[in-house]
Amino acid sequence: MTTSTTSAQTGRTGKPAAEKDAPTGHLELRDVVKVFSNRGKDVYAVHGVSLDVAPGEFITFLGPSGCGKTTTLRMIAGFENATAGQVILDGQNMVSLPPNRRPMSMVFQSYALFPHLSVRDNVGYGLKLRRVPEAEMREQVDVALTSMNLTSLADRAPNELSGGQQQRVALARAMVVQPRCCCSTSRCPTWTRSCACACAWRSGACSGAWASLRSTSPTTSPRR
Ligand SMILES: Nc1ncnc2c1ncn2[C@@H]1O[C@H](COP(=O)(O)OP(=O)(O)OP(=O)(O)O)[C@@H](O)[C@H]1O
Ligand SMILES: [Mg+2]
Repeated sequence: MTTSTTSAQTGRTGKPAAEKDAPTGHLELRDVVKVFSNRGKDVYAVHGVSLDVAPGEFITFLGPSGCGKTTTLRMIAGFENATAGQVILDGQNMVSLPPNRRPMSMVFQSYALFPHLSVRDNVGYGLKLRRVPEAEMREQVDVALTSMNLTSLADRAPNELSGGQQQRVALARAMVVQPRCCCSTSRCPTWTRSCACACAWRSGACSGAWASLRSTSPTTSPRR
């Protein structure tokens, strides 16, 4: 598995971490290992990955199927327990925290949109869970919908959207809670290998971060 990093447009300022407003979204992996037990045999899915992702920086994992990209992201977001190692966000080791206690979002390969909820309600779901007041929630959802060019589709159900529109809803839903780190696995049909990426950003810099992610995608795609 290889990695590629890019600073987001709104990301690195060059200032030392201490000068920035904490928390910033500085992600570190230290010797992270994942061993699955498969029919009595140990399978090393991830074998000692260490990374340092600066606030506002994107990191993309590229590699052949089965090399551990998704498992690494799932351990970052807390959907998989690491067998060993540390996942550190802004100096705090996250490994003992469940996904809902981590200030992170994950965009799943299948998008995992709620079929019975409108686009607006899908995007607002995380804010509702966090008991954000109605007016504030509406305002934040409007910003997310606008940034993903989804305003005109706000009242539709997911099954009334194209694949790309569904993907944008999933991204808006991840962004709107202003996570300090966002993990995404995506598989583009024109690529022969899949790509997984994690980005950490400073609070409020989400739109720029995703714009930068889109603009850097072609240079990080593997050759056919
Ligand atoms: N729950 C599981 N139990 C046992 N083995 C697993 C489990 N999940 C993943 N694996 C194994 O761990 C390895 C890494 O899987 P992972 O899903 O991280 O690969 P990937 O790099 O994301 O692949 P792809 O590009 O195909 O999505 C694979 O060999 C896979 O078979
Ligand atoms: Mg995968």
